[in-house]
This record gives sequence, structure tokens and C-alpha cells, in this order.
Amino acid sequence: MAGRPSLLVAAVVAAAVVCLAQPGAADLKVNYYASTCPNVEAIVSGVVQQKLQATIRTIGSTIRLFFHDCFVEGCDGSVLIDSTPGNQAEKDASDNKSLAFEGFDTVNSAKAAVEAACPDTVSCADVLALATRDAISMSGGPFFPVELGRLDGLSSKASSVPGQLPEPNQTMNQLLAVFKAHGLNMTDLVALSAAHSVGLAHCSKFSSRLYSFQPGQPTDPTLNPKYARFLESKCPDGGPDNLVLMDQTSPAQLDNQYYRNLQDGGGLLGSDELLYTDNRTRPMVDALANSTTAFYQAFADAIVRLGRVGVKSGKLGNIRKQCDVFN
Ligand code: HEM
Ligand SMILES: *[C@@H]1O[C@H](CO)[C@@H](O)[C@H](O)[C@H]1NC(C)=O
Ligand SMILES: *[C@@H]1O[C@H](CO)[C@@H](O)[C@H](O)[C@H]1NC(C)=O
Ligand SMILES: *[C@@H]1O[C@H](CO)[C@@H](O)[C@H](O)[C@H]1NC(C)=O
Ligand SMILES: *[C@@H]1O[C@H](CO)[C@@H](O)[C@H](O)[C@H]1NC(C)=O
Ligand SMILES: *[C@@H]1O[C@H](CO)[C@@H](O)[C@H](O)[C@H]1NC(C)=O
Repeated sequence: MAGRPSLLVAAVVAAAVVCLAQPGAADLKVNYYASTCPNVEAIVSGVVQQKLQATIRTIGSTIRLFFHDCFVEGCDGSVLIDSTPGNQAEKDASDNKSLAFEGFDTVNSAKAAVEAACPDTVSCADVLALATRDAISMSGGPFFPVELGRLDGLSSKASSVPGQLPEPNQTMNQLLAVFKAHGLNMTDLVALSAAHSVGLAHCSKFSSRLYSFQPGQPTDPTLNPKYARFLESKCPDGGPDNLVLMDQTSPAQLDNQYYRNLQDGGGLLGSDELLYTDNRTRPMVDALANSTTAFYQAFADAIVRLGRVGVKSGKLGNIRKQCDVFN
């Protein structure tokens, strides 16, 4: 694709600029494993490709895992840890974040393949970052260089989750505050939300927008009425755990259809449609809806920034041998 080399340059330049502004981010660099594990990118992308052929759920579940990893204790692989009798881990936080199995499976498999080639060298946090980039580019999103060099965190506690992740029913000020607490701004919020152009959500996450679930309360007026009726058919009473595609038009493509859906009252979550109804973010939605080039650049740039959140180095982390258990 003709536009990609210049996008690549843009992403690298943008990355370098932000690097100067964020102390600690200097630990990360593209090609971090060039001499210690030169084939790491090919190994990870081979596994992601294989998992993707097995199930389309690989895309959304892997990307969402990266987001949740980075927002809870930083991008340190802590979301990958399994609970043990003595420790309820992040992934089993009581407010059940319903992270799908396929994301964990993809990362664990990719890590096993990487370990076979380069033992004790590449962190699980970095494998997740690479697998996320691959899931993005393999589903039609931008390809961008991934900064590497994260260490894996030494703890994973369900109790550190509450308050760290955004909720679909939050106001714009609340969403902005959650992102700001992780060093991200409004541009990042609007760009990263396009991850909801792939994957699925449970009816319980948006049913409060539908009349049939809240008798006596009107259907969310920002919801396209035709889409509302469709969603009600997908979420019959008693089936709050049914899954619905987040983008009905191109469910497996990470594209800017997401923003065109918002313009049409077709955002699935309250936090999605809010990007269009709030006049602070609507101009960004309109701009990204119009231009694939602008979307690629904004999304790649924001994902790179997400990947720098709370990165650990030195004594604060290690290289895990297996992603779901501590060494
Ligand atoms: C803006 C605030 C956000 C809120 C309130 C939010 C909330 C949610 C919710 C409630 C779901 C459905 C989960 C389920 O029912 O199983 C979901 C799915 C998803 N989210 Fe977000 N999210 C946000 C931002 C993000 C970001 C920044 C990313 C990644 C960059 C992301 C990636 C995803 C993906 C890929 C899915 C589909 C998961 C799958 O198919 O398994 N989300 N999100
Ligand atoms: C979390 O939610 C999923 C999907 O609704 C459900 O299958 C699972 O049992 C829940 N887990 C816990 C610990 O509540
Ligand atoms: C938003 O959702 C959370 C989790 O389901 C719930 O505890 C909270 O009461 C809701 N807040 C509002 C304002 O509806
Ligand atoms: C968010 O941060 C990025 C990178 O520093 C910057 O380019 C962008 O203008 C910021 N957006 C807002 C709304 O401040
Ligand atoms: C957004 O709307 C509010 C309330 O209607 C108004 O006070 C504000 O000036 C508007 N801001 C912009 C940037 O248009
Ligand atoms: C988007 O494209 C439409 C149609 O080409 C145009 O009317 C509109 O001004 C554009 N909006 C932005 C924000 O670029």
C-alpha cells in the first residue's frame, strides 16, 4: 500500500517526539531484541496468524488484553497471570472484565514459541505488545514499529483493578480523567476507542441504553432507533450474556467504519456514542471518519503511547518464563 511507508515514518517521528516528553520511556526501543532474539517479530506474528486462522476472536481479545494490561499497573504482563489459592489475580477482578480466552491463548502460545528460540530473553509484556500490533495489522489496521524492552511485573492483584479501567456508562469528563491518569489525552481516547471496530460485547454492557431492559426509562436518544430495535432482538430478556458484534458493518476489520457508525447513532457502548455527541470530541470523530490515512496515523500513534504506560525496568520486573505464572 502506497501510503504505508510515509505512515511508518510519521509514527516513528511522533514516537521520538513523545519519548523526549516522557521520562522512563527511554527504556523502550524498536529492535530492542535485535541481537538477543533477532527473529522475535517473525515468531510472534507466525503464531498470531495461526491463531487468527483458527478463530476471528483472536483479534479483539488480544487487543483488549493489551489495553487492560497497560491500564492496570502498566504494560507489564500482569494481566496474564493466573490466580492461585493465595492470590486473586488481575484477570479475575471481582467486577468481571470478561477478558476472552483467545487473547491469553495467543500470548501464551507466542511466548512458548519465543522461549524455544530465545530462552529467558523476551518479556511477556513485549510478546503481548507485538501480538497486539500483529492483530491490528492483520485485521486491516495500520502496521507500525513496536517499541520493546518492557519487563514483566512481579505482582498481579484483582484489588488493583477497580478505578483503573473506563466504564461504558461514564461521562466524557470521567473517561478523560481515567485516560489522563495513565498519561493519555483526548486525542488518544478518540483514536484508541476505534479498537471497538472489532470484537464483541456482552448485552449487559449496553443494555441500560435499551428500553426493553429498563422499563419506564426511555431508550437512549443518541441510539439510532433502527439499531436499537436490532440490539433488542439480539438481547432478549433473560439473555444478558449474549454477545453482539461491536461493528456490524465490518466486524473483523480494524477500520474507521467505527467513526461512521458513531455519526449514524450506531455506537454500541454509551462511551462510544459519547465521542460523537460531546462537542469536544465530535470534530475528531468527523475527521477520522473521513480519512483512512488520518485514522491509521492517529491509531498507530495512540497505541504506541499506550504501550509506554507504566513500563517497568530494573528491580521492578523480570523476564517471566511462562506468562501465566510467576517464575
Ligand atoms: C474508552 C473507554 C473504553 C470502555 C468504556 C471500554 C469498554 C469495553 C467493554 C464494556 C467491552 C465489552 C466487553 C464484554 O462485554 O466482554 C469492550 C470490548 C473491547 N474493548 Fe474496550 N473499552 C474502552 C476502550 C478500549 C480501548 C482503548 C481498547 C484498545 C485499544 C479497547 C479494546 C476493546 C476490544 C478489542 C474489545 C472487544 C473484545 C473481544 O472481542 O473480546 N477498548 N470494551
Ligand atoms: C465472568 O463473565 C463470564 C461471561 O459472562 C462468565 O462466563 C464467567 O463465569 C464470569 N466469571 C466470574 C468469575 O464471575
Ligand atoms: C455504571 O456501571 C457500573 C458497573 O456496572 C455501576 O456500578 C454504576 O452504578 C453505573 N453508573 C451509572 C452512573 O449508571
Ligand atoms: C495529545 O497528546 C499528543 C501527543 O503529545 C498531542 O499530539 C495531541 O495534540 C494531544 N491532544 C490534545 C487534545 O491535547
Ligand atoms: C459545547 O457545548 C456546551 C454546552 O452546550 C457549550 O457551553 C460549549 O461552549 C460548547 N463547546 C464547544 C467547543 O463547542
Ligand atoms: C468529510 O467529508 C465530507 C464529504 O466529503 C465533507 O462534507 C466534510 O466536510 C468532511 N469533514 C471533515 C471534518 O473533514
